[in-house]
Amino acid sequence: PSTSSVLPLKSSKSPPSVSPGIQRRHTLPASEVRPLNTQDAISVFEIEREAFISVSGECPLHLDEVRHFLTLCPELSMGWFEEGRLVAFIIGSLWDQDRLTTEALTLHKPCGSTVHIHVLAVHRTFRQQGKGPILMWRYLQYLRCLPNVRRAVLMCEDFLIPFYRKSGFKVLGRCAITVANLTFTEMWYPISGHAYMRRNTGCV
Ligand SMILES: CC(C)(COP(=O)(O)OP(=O)(O)OC[C@H]1O[C@@H](n2cnc3c(N)ncnc32)[C@H](O)[C@@H]1OP(=O)(O)O)[C@@H](O)C(=O)NCCC(=O)NCCS
Repeated sequence: PSTSSVLPLKSSKSPPSVSPGIQRRHTLPASEVRPLNTQDAISVFEIEREAFISVSGECPLHLDEVRHFLTLCPELSMGWFEEGRLVAFIIGSLWDQDRLTTEALTLHKPCGSTVHIHVLAVHRTFRQQGKGPILMWRYLQYLRCLPNVRRAVLMCEDFLIPFYRKSGFKVLGRCAITVANLTFTEMWYPISGHAYMRRNTGCV
């Protein structure tokens, strides 16, 4: 049995009380996790701008690339919203080779069995609260439900290797891709071998 349906995403704030019979309208959920769509692209990019561009001048996905992947494979993205506001997200696409190459930065290979995680980022004011690891955990659980997905890979700067190790990723080796003067390590997480889980977790 899996615990994937038990999600520690309850907001610490209790919802406002509502008198019986009075319908609440236009109320945003306190906490929600859902796939992203192209309408979320600007919010995604705002977080990227602060998290990456202001730091290194580069970011994993530019706005047009965010829109590109959210059009081609929205089901490989996941956003965490608090009262309607995006606080953390993951964007992935499919890849069909053992290792990442420069092409992987811009392509989605629908027949691939590897999910390439392009970016995980948490809004600045919501960091250091465990949200990044929780969202990653939930995303990896979700990937088990997708047919044909065998592993997830990502590239990260070396200082984040311990962070991803805690989520279960293992080092695959030096990444062939460099961006400006940044170098990366490739890490992977096995998704296959869960046929029993797939049958018993309500995955469709
Ligand atoms: C990395 C990131 C996703 C972590 O999410 P989070 O919700 O804050 O994660 P946590 O609450 O577990 O706490 C932060 C952890 O991130 C890691 N981390 C974040 N920034 C780090 C840095 N500059 N150096 C080393 N580790 C760092 C550490 O493991 C840290 O845990 P620690 O404080 O116990 O050492 C978030 O800091 C972020 O969005 N950063 C900017 C974007 C980014 O670098 N994304 C990853 C590359 S795609």
